[in-house]
Amino acid sequence: MRQHKQSPSARPKILYLVCAVALFSLILFSIQSSFFNGSFYSDPRTSESIRDLFQFQSTVQQCVANRGLGLTADIIDHCTLVLKYPEGTNSTWYNQQFKKFEPLEYTYDVCEAILLWEQYRNMTTVLTREYLDVRPGGWLDYAPLRIAQLGAKKCYNKTLCEEQLDILLPAKPPFHPRQFRTCAVVGNSGDLLKTEFGNEIDSHDAVFRDNEAPVNEKYAKYVGLKRDFRLVVRGSARNMVPILKGSDDEVLIIKSLTHREINAVIKTLPNPVYLFQGIVLRRGAKGTGMKSIELALSMCDIVDIYGFTVDPGYTEWTRYFSAPRKGHNPLQGRAYYQLLECLGVIRIHSPMRSMRKQDWSDVPSREMISQAHAAAWHLRKSSADKGGSKGQFGNCKVWGNVDPDKSGPISGSPDMSDVRKYSNYKKWEVMPLKSLRKEAQLHYKQMEGVSQYKMDGNKLDDLVCVRHSLKSAV
Ligand SMILES: *[C@@H]1O[C@H](CO)[C@@H](O)[C@H](O)[C@H]1NC(C)=O
Ligand SMILES: *[C@@H]1O[C@H](CO)[C@@H](O)[C@H](O)[C@H]1NC(C)=O
Ligand SMILES: *[C@@H]1O[C@H](CO)[C@@H](O)[C@H](O)[C@H]1NC(C)=O
Repeated sequence: MRQHKQSPSARPKILYLVCAVALFSLILFSIQSSFFNGSFYSDPRTSESIRDLFQFQSTVQQCVANRGLGLTADIIDHCTLVLKYPEGTNSTWYNQQFKKFEPLEYTYDVCEAILLWEQYRNMTTVLTREYLDVRPGGWLDYAPLRIAQLGAKKCYNKTLCEEQLDILLPAKPPFHPRQFRTCAVVGNSGDLLKTEFGNEIDSHDAVFRDNEAPVNEKYAKYVGLKRDFRLVVRGSARNMVPILKGSDDEVLIIKSLTHREINAVIKTLPNPVYLFQGIVLRRGAKGTGMKSIELALSMCDIVDIYGFTVDPGYTEWTRYFSAPRKGHNPLQGRAYYQLLECLGVIRIHSPMRSMRKQDWSDVPSREMISQAHAAAWHLRKSSADKGGSKGQFGNCKVWGNVDPDKSGPISGSPDMSDVRKYSNYKKWEVMPLKSLRKEAQLHYKQMEGVSQYKMDGNKLDDLVCVRHSLKSAV
């Protein structure tokens, strides 16, 4: 439909093109002027970084061509990549609000993407007491944002808010970066019924699911039976009692807000329950799928995704356990997931990919990604502040210290099982560092016992960093 020249969307498209060209010239101009300022060439490391990134871009481009089921990538500059759908692709999803179909081209800043997603590998994504204690205004300003129906009192009376958050807040991070080698993130797409990924999903070290996804014999061959983490939005949190039945150590992570009603449900569950830390408050939140990937990436080396609608030919949004309905941005989503696969963030599994050999040699290697990350980091630092990089903690804006030897600055009980006496915290949370996978221990040492959290949204350099004593933990 959209390919007709007469279509009413042609005029805005031309306008859009003109704007894009103008913007592009502006960017070119500003790049050129910085050449003349000498800030680009003054540093051989800078031209080396640009060269590394171009090389990286061409690997990504090749990867998209190999794996994208028709998607192609155009390299615009060392950071900018455009993913394109083939001419004539049906854009079936119509946005009522903006009165247009989904576009067939998506522009990405690969440098930003690689900085952001590599950062998730070192991040704590579960809300903790230490975070609220350390973050300026943590209890007074931030905590009220995570509790619905709080009323005008907010958290001026901290006790009031503590009462509601207590059962969800561990003192320090319950999970660690690199804790698992392989993880499966299972979305809810109806596509899952076209394949039998059940055993493959269950063979992962940890499995992440979301919302009301049923796990039982009926669906076992499609989605597996293993249950470790479940990310839920507020609406589904209410319905968790029947869904969690038979799985009392599946960790529930609430994506958005809590309130008295949900807390009442939580009190009846034996399962560990936490709040997701990295939500983007007061903005159109991205789908649960993307957040599940963030959560998984903060604990796993390899993230395999299943049940994300990512094959061509989207007609309607389906779930493997309920009737189809309208929703989602299929083309936008598919392009972004393909980019993430070619940046080495995730591995995509879907019906149209199920027959091919599991060969990831055309995805950039870890070494190549590290090199591209270092290059992107260098360019960002040399353009942002002349002060240069401040080492591996250059992104920490706020610091806190926690010494578990002393009762210390962190409020409340250090042990969740004090607060939720009948809950099952045995599976991962109480795990002493020395019984973790050696990669996780090594990371902890390399990070000098520092846990990193995001302050707000997806900014790279506004981290809250909390230092734990190394000696008592290892
Ligand atoms: C696009 O949609 C039309 C109508 O549903 C269909 O006939 C056509 O085959 C589709 N084209 C592609 C490329 O999928
Ligand atoms: C704060 O809230 C708690 C719990 O609702 C209440 O018992 C206490 O009196 C309140 N304190 C103040 C100073 O209002
Ligand atoms: C993540 O942690 C590793 C140590 O395990 C460190 O070498 C690396 O620089 C960190 N990366 C980021 C983006 O913080």
